[in-house]
Amino acid sequence: MRKMVRIALEGITKRFGDFTALRSITLKINDKEFMALLGPSGSGKSTLLYTIAGIYRPTEGRIYFDGKDITDIPPKDRNVGLVFQNWALYPHMKVFDNIAFPLELRKVPKQDIEAKVREVSQMLHIEDLLDRYPWQLSGGQQQRVAIARALVKEPDVLLLDEPLSNLDALLRIEVRAELKRLQKELGITAVYVTHDQAEALAMADRIAVIRAGKILQVGTPDEVYYRPKYRFVGGFLGNPPMNFVDAEVENGYLNVYGSRIQIPAQYRALIEKLGVREILLGFRPHDAEVVRGAAEGLAGEVYSFEPLGREQIVTISVNGAFVKVFAPEGEHFSFGERVTVKLREDRIVLFDRKTEKALEFLP
Ligand SMILES: Nc1ncnc2c1ncn2[C@@H]1O[C@H](COP(=O)(O)OP(=O)(O)OP(=O)(O)O)[C@@H](O)[C@H]1O
Ligand SMILES: [Mg+2]
Repeated sequence: MRKMVRIALEGITKRFGDFTALRSITLKINDKEFMALLGPSGSGKSTLLYTIAGIYRPTEGRIYFDGKDITDIPPKDRNVGLVFQNWALYPHMKVFDNIAFPLELRKVPKQDIEAKVREVSQMLHIEDLLDRYPWQLSGGQQQRVAIARALVKEPDVLLLDEPLSNLDALLRIEVRAELKRLQKELGITAVYVTHDQAEALAMADRIAVIRAGKILQVGTPDEVYYRPKYRFVGGFLGNPPMNFVDAEVENGYLNVYGSRIQIPAQYRALIEKLGVREILLGFRPHDAEVVRGAAEGLAGEVYSFEPLGREQIVTISVNGAFVKVFAPEGEHFSFGERVTVKLREDRIVLFDRKTEKALEFLP
């Protein structure tokens, strides 16, 4: 039985000289959980991962594995498996020796090494490649070897830094499903760094969204997708991302560039209570439809439309603000046509325009 491993980060700050890369990060990762660290380039994802690995020492804050403070324990004694973006296999070693290397460092007996390498290779479907050199492998195969090398020492925690970003789009989608399954089969706590929102949504149990060294929101894929805490989160997740339009609270309605729509039922009491007037209205492209004729919604005109096979993305100018809405395949649109964007009320998310924070999360 694998032992349990919970990770707790408490008030982690990391400075490089006078630059602050991480700002007081507190995060708990459960045993056997798949946690994605998602954020744009330069947001501090890798820095946080390497801090968990022990490669970086936090300037402030403590790290706990299963309640034990490991902040001062060197990386080699933390028993973590690390997979990097560029897999960095040893070029002069065959696949077998690449995978065996961490065990040789530990002076594991030869027979045991042999058995362990075979076992992990079977798991990753690379047992036929053990006799090749890294340059004789495809990118996807090299990536599996790198994961095998990280897993062979049976780490307590698996840390992955954009491990799929060197693969082509199709292979990424294939490997991400396999990796997700493997993580659950092994029951190993995993932290996965990515800037790809689709990857985070597809793979993670929970996602921590990071921007400029701060965690903005931690939640299940559903929570961060449908109930973003900040405009940034709504705008970072989804393809196309969440739409935003300015709205004013007026006489119990929302005025959106001259279109009058009902305040969504779930927000009526809250708006009353908070007394906010300047709102940012967010909705996802599949939580709206393009209709013609009289209907409550945002009046606008068709700016463009892009067929995508099963559906199409219609871009609509709502008084100069562009929003994107999915429409069924085959529906015909013409440029400049007057339409109404009808919103699915229960999926609307309202933000305070000044702080860009969702109303439900306002203090
Ligand atoms: N060793 C270092 N010395 C100084 N600054 C650093 C160092 N490592 C990282 N930084 C800075 O810290 C910030 C966060 O870097 P980090 O590598 O963690 O970003 P990231 O989210 O992983 O980005 P990417 O998606 O591009 O890999 C960046 O502004 C980076 O320039
Ligand atoms: Mg990085």
